[in-house]
Amino acid sequence: MTNLPPNPANPGSNLAITVIGLGYVGLVTAACLAEWGHRVTGVDADDTRLTALRRGSSPFHEPGLESLVQSMIRAGRLRLASQAAEAVRDADIVFVAVGTHDGNGGWQTKTMLGCLKAVVPHLREGAVVVIRSTLPPDFVAQVGDIVAELRRGDDGQVSLLLNPEFTQEGKALDDFRSPSRVVLGVASDHDGRGQELLVAMYRAAKAPVIVMSAVEACLAKLGSNLFLATKITFANEMAALCDAFGGMIDPVVGAIGLDPRVAPSFLGAGVGFGGSCLPNQVAMISRIAESGGVATPLFAAVDEINHRQRNRFVDLIAEMLDGRLRDSRIALMGLAFKPDTDDIRDAPSIAIARSLIDAGADVAAFDPMPAARAAASQALPFLFVADSVEEALRGADAVALVTEWPELVNLDWTRVRALVRRPVVIDGRNALDQGTVLRAGYRYAAFGRGRHTPVAAFIEPSSEVVRTAITANTDVGDLETSLPGH
Ligand code: UDX
Repeated sequence: MTNLPPNPANPGSNLAITVIGLGYVGLVTAACLAEWGHRVTGVDADDTRLTALRRGSSPFHEPGLESLVQSMIRAGRLRLASQAAEAVRDADIVFVAVGTHDGNGGWQTKTMLGCLKAVVPHLREGAVVVIRSTLPPDFVAQVGDIVAELRRGDDGQVSLLLNPEFTQEGKALDDFRSPSRVVLGVASDHDGRGQELLVAMYRAAKAPVIVMSAVEACLAKLGSNLFLATKITFANEMAALCDAFGGMIDPVVGAIGLDPRVAPSFLGAGVGFGGSCLPNQVAMISRIAESGGVATPLFAAVDEINHRQRNRFVDLIAEMLDGRLRDSRIALMGLAFKPDTDDIRDAPSIAIARSLIDAGADVAAFDPMPAARAAASQALPFLFVADSVEEALRGADAVALVTEWPELVNLDWTRVRALVRRPVVIDGRNALDQGTVLRAGYRYAAFGRGRHTPVAAFIEPSSEVVRTAITANTDVGDLETSLPGH
């Protein structure tokens, strides 16, 4: 590793950076900072993870990450280490990206505290500590004092900033390289050097850098996720209205999303949001707000409705099987909480599979990611996890799509008919082209799309405009539509 000092004409270049915690956020941060030309040391306490990384394999699936890590290690710009105290001694900046989940749907700050205690006393004077992990606001309000306390003595001061990530799994490298914005929250920065160094470092991102207090940065991060969760929940409520009054959700959210004040993304109705961030943060913020004496009924409702979607999906499957889940075989398509990841943390698939099994159904699940399949088997020992999509589909009484992987959405539905016992599809992501599925002879249900029985001939609309007009009207074309209770 080259050991040139930072260029005084460009203080944001060629920095010595240590990243502590090589989980999802830390590994992406370390690899991308190395790509920007910094001298990065990645630290993780898990030797197995370090060994795998040295052998060139990433601990999780993220498009492009494995090859970037390999090339940065080969170029000598990314070094791996297990001892934090040693690795931070000469660092200009130390990013801390350790886990803050308690494994039970809540937060824990023990790992963060342990890490700060292990690291802060060993920093050189003027070093900058940057917390990248998401933390609860009550902890953030104290963290500046905690670090100052750890620097008592003759060691000199260090700066402490928050730099929350807005990383979407599956798009993590792009989100780092070209973010929509960079948020910096200042907890303590006596001479302003910390802020200056980070602003200079992030010039490479060519994005607006917004500097605020640490608590504000924490709330900006949480607020972004809370807004996305609320937006999805809004779409799910609109879908329920469509089902109740006889409309299709697609043109409804299409029209709403074209208003530039709203924007089209995150208006996809379905089984709801999962993953390591959104569900956890929505649930936690309500509890933390309550302990701070604030009522947040909106977020409590988002949490409740999101869980309700999973139950609604199970009810929808039962409805499509004429109320009989017991002894029915359900092919559960997709386990990861969304495509392009192998992450099943708080994935709707797991809660749905559990409810189906509890109701006496046989569930055969499949996900294209072997790691997602292995994790699901471990999480639910009674779940049959198939090694191939054909194995999951064979003999199924209903096909339930939970994750919109392109290879599952684009199955040859006519060929699939030869595998399943009954041609019934329940689309938990509103991802399938219902015309294709109906033409292939299936009964079809989704969220806010009515319930459909197969048709002999479904005339494909010739243009997108006509198509939207037709899907807006559930009563046209050759579609035979029956709404709940009809
Ligand atoms: C999210 C935030 O997007 C990211 O900025 C933050 O840093 C971490 O949390 P991620 O958890 O990777 O990222 O997933 P995201 O793409 O936001 O999707 C979250 C969930 O919402 C998924 O389960 C997805 O299927 C669901 N979703 C998304 C919907 O149900 N409908 C939609 O329209 C969009």
